[in-house]
Amino acid sequence: MARFSDSFLEALKANNEITSVMSSYVELKRAGRDFVCSCPFHAEKTPSCHVYTGTQSFYCFGCHAGGDVISFIRLIEHLEYPESVRFLAQRAGMPMPEDAGSDDASKRRTRMLEMNRDAARYFRDVLNSEAGREGMDYLNERRLERGTMIRYGLGYAPNDWHSLHFHLRRLGYTDDEMADAALVVRNKKSVYDKFRHRVMFPIIDRRGNVIAFGGRALEKDAPAKYLNSDETLVFHKRESLFSLNFAKNTKEKFLILCEGYMDVIMLNQAGFDSAVATLGTAITPQQVQIMKQYAPEVIISYDSDSAGQNAAMKAINLLSEAGVASRVLVIPDAKDPDEYIKKFGAESFRQLLGKTATALDHEFGRLKAGIDLTAAAGRAEFLKKAVPFLASISTDTDRAVYISETAKISEQPVNVITDLVNERRRKNSAGERRAEERELIHSKITRDPINPDSVNYPREERAERGIIAYMFNSPDLLPRVEKKLTPEDFPTAFNRKVFVCVSERIKNGGTLDMGSIGAEFSADEVGRITGICRQADKLPYSIPQLDEYINVLVACRTRREDKPASEMSDEELLRKMDELRNKKKKQ
Ligand code: UTP
Ligand code: MN
Repeated sequence: MARFSDSFLEALKANNEITSVMSSYVELKRAGRDFVCSCPFHAEKTPSCHVYTGTQSFYCFGCHAGGDVISFIRLIEHLEYPESVRFLAQRAGMPMPEDAGSDDASKRRTRMLEMNRDAARYFRDVLNSEAGREGMDYLNERRLERGTMIRYGLGYAPNDWHSLHFHLRRLGYTDDEMADAALVVRNKKSVYDKFRHRVMFPIIDRRGNVIAFGGRALEKDAPAKYLNSDETLVFHKRESLFSLNFAKNTKEKFLILCEGYMDVIMLNQAGFDSAVATLGTAITPQQVQIMKQYAPEVIISYDSDSAGQNAAMKAINLLSEAGVASRVLVIPDAKDPDEYIKKFGAESFRQLLGKTATALDHEFGRLKAGIDLTAAAGRAEFLKKAVPFLASISTDTDRAVYISETAKISEQPVNVITDLVNERRRKNSAGERRAEERELIHSKITRDPINPDSVNYPREERAERGIIAYMFNSPDLLPRVEKKLTPEDFPTAFNRKVFVCVSERIKNGGTLDMGSIGAEFSADEVGRITGICRQADKLPYSIPQLDEYINVLVACRTRREDKPASEMSDEELLRKMDELRNKKKKQ
């Protein structure tokens, strides 16, 4: 793999101050000298992600993501290490060192994105030519304006098996490359266009790359009304949102979440640039995390049929788990936003947005659905449904409001309902505590995926981490460690690898930070290493403490050496043989 020079990485980081990079993804709040934010990598209500300006690093105490600005970009943009470096270099307007970062995966990615862009150009040119008449007629009939078609780069795939296929061949792409990008279908006998006789919607990511396509059939009875690209190297459905490239720059304080491409496009045409849509699937936690980066509130604007309303409930739950406020738009007299705007106009939709009930109101309203509240039995049924809902409201004031509302509707005294709700809440939280305990026990017995050896050496593993943290903090103490220990004395494989990497860097006079180390470790592993350094921040750095850690490993070695071979595990035996061989070589 390409290695970047330490001086290049240093300059890269100096030009990409971590708080300035992070603040374009999350809202940073000052905490003393440093900052905190809600972690963009897992759902949480209270901020547990810390940003340290002194060391230019971040660490989440909740999910243990962490590292420097390069690690951050790797995680949030889903890029490989060299691509993250390239991303930051571009951001800072720095030239990339010759050839660096052009490893195989990133070359293939770049090539695929180029091909997607060529395909989008082709579809667009066809739409604007005589061959695209049918597509143009269709879009006109749906009342899309010329500017909207251009803004979205809309196109047309002819009713033909090889039009894109042969076009891309002429541009020098191979059939394999086209199949990898999911632009053609390949079976045993042939290769042919995946999208045929369809209006084409390019799906564009936050950085302006064409990552995939959606295609709307023109035939009424086509087997799939919409066809979306399959997953590829550059397209991950669960992490993509249609039109986010526009919505991310919106001045609105909310995103509008729709079901379909056409809803989003029509909303844009009507001046609502904060609309996005999922791509033919239910909303995912990853998409929620992305939306959270761009707006504090989401207005769910799904179809008015029951499928749409049920999907809205699911979205509310996911959003609220992630701490994102949401409201649900109920669209009267139209099946979806597209139709509503055509019938009643943009101004009317704007008013609808203003009148939208909060998610709580919406959910509360649904409790009453189908119940006859004039009968005592109906009121009892309502109360039964209301108690779990009320108990699930986390804010005290909101809960009080809906309790009093419930009291009125059910014709029961407020304190009776409060008691019922509190009892329910006590049960819920006991259940949650038990679940937490179960999880804790579970995580103890399941192996640590990054360092599976740690279960066998809990005490030693702690000492290893201590030593590693010392090396980051005081590299000058490395000789003291090496006087007593060799890497083989680190019983767990991951920590051993970290120690080797760190000590080599210290000896070669290289920089010791997550960025330069990141090239040799995965993003998860970098998070772990950052965690090791962070935890140790709380320790007093003293030489006796370091010696104690060293002694733990020395004692472990002695135990291992004294063990008869018959009692060793396979791994111990192999290691022992290695050690003996090394000793012989030295003699
Ligand atoms: P709808 O069928 O509600 O779309 O599907 P729509 O916007 O009303 O379609 P038009 O107005 O008739 O053109 C909503 C979304 O579900 C996905 C697409 O992403 C679509 O935009 N979908 C739908 C598919 O992926 N495949 C399908 O066959 C249908
Ligand atoms: Mn529609």
